[in-house]
Amino acid sequence: MIKVGIFGATGYTGVELMRLLSKHEKVKIEYISSQSYAGKSIADVYPSLTGFYDISLDDVEVEKAVSKCDVVFTALPAGYASKIAREAVKKGVKVIDLGADFRFDDYSTYKEWYGGEYDGYDGIKRAYGLPEIYRDSIKEADVVGNPGCYPTSVILGLVPLLKEKVIDGNIIIDSKSGISGAGHSPSQKNIYAECNESIRAYNVANHRHVPEMVQELSKASGEKVSVVFAPHLTPMTRGILSTMYCKLRENLNQEEIYEVFAEFYKNEYFVKVLKPGAYPSTKNVYGSNFCHIGFEVDKATGTLVVMTAIDNLVKGASGQAIQNMNIIFGLEEKTGLDIVPVYP
Ligand SMILES: NC(=O)c1ccc[n+]([C@@H]2O[C@H](COP(=O)([O-])OP(=O)(O)OC[C@H]3O[C@@H](n4cnc5c(N)ncnc54)[C@H](OP(=O)(O)O)[C@@H]3O)[C@@H](O)[C@H]2O)c1
Repeated sequence: MIKVGIFGATGYTGVELMRLLSKHEKVKIEYISSQSYAGKSIADVYPSLTGFYDISLDDVEVEKAVSKCDVVFTALPAGYASKIAREAVKKGVKVIDLGADFRFDDYSTYKEWYGGEYDGYDGIKRAYGLPEIYRDSIKEADVVGNPGCYPTSVILGLVPLLKEKVIDGNIIIDSKSGISGAGHSPSQKNIYAECNESIRAYNVANHRHVPEMVQELSKASGEKVSVVFAPHLTPMTRGILSTMYCKLRENLNQEEIYEVFAEFYKNEYFVKVLKPGAYPSTKNVYGSNFCHIGFEVDKATGTLVVMTAIDNLVKGASGQAIQNMNIIFGLEEKTGLDIVPVYP
């Protein structure tokens, strides 16, 4: 059995890790932490887990976690994982960080967008945790920087097109996210009366996920890609729908675009390329680790509109983190994740 620890088990991504891992046949959870609920049983904090776990929350105690576990997930705000990771790596414990600390190739990009005190990752073998692109380096990594939720939806939709030079490198992205993307701490922006029956844009053109998208899309393209990103908060609990407007380099038709996606993802269980004319919906991936991709060619303007749907808490966070754990430990990638989306 793989012995697992979760720092931040009481957050939305932490409790989603616990939900998914409850059915993972090769895992035993040995340590879970909370800042506010130390000493309580997880089922008292999240009654949805009643009957699945008999384990209580600890304070953040890195030494204790590292001595008990083979791998730790850090589901914490940005800036906290780097210190935990250093201690874990010294003891040969793998780290999968759901925050932003290990997503950047260049530490200065992290510093510019996230600021704060951060240890950096000199001497740590890290990988960007998007399995469909980086499976080989994830296998070798000490620490995996699990991608952001918006970047997951965007990168999966654009990498095949950029690699094949089907589109140019100026891309406009409109994304819509469910409220759970903001985590479980209440704020005026995410209370019911503010969100219900309302959609609003936020952090347009300066969201922290932009540099992550630019890093990965530029690597796929081989040239610097520029991104205009407009995220929106929508009145749903889970899900991200990203709509991406791209200029076609050549006059390709629907079937040819389909072939590009189908060929790139032909061996990928969690990425489903929809047939031409079918569009993705967050409802069709709800509670699952799938990413659905659809597209439409606008012949009049030479624009390719790509649409992707994921569940922000699963393929956008905890499901992808478990997919990464499965890769690191040589398990079949879909172990614990082979779940039909909840519908309706
Ligand atoms: N939500 C998403 O859809 C999503 C998707 C992808 C990535 N992420 C990233 O994943 C990470 C966790 O996100 P989340 O949405 O699960 O956040 P969240 O719901 O706000 O939960 C944060 C967790 O961290 C703990 N925590 C907060 N401050 C702490 C501190 N100073 N010391 C120790 N523990 C502390 C909290 O403990 P208590 O609440 O018990 O005090 C809680 O367990 C973030 O970096 C986020 O950006 C989130």
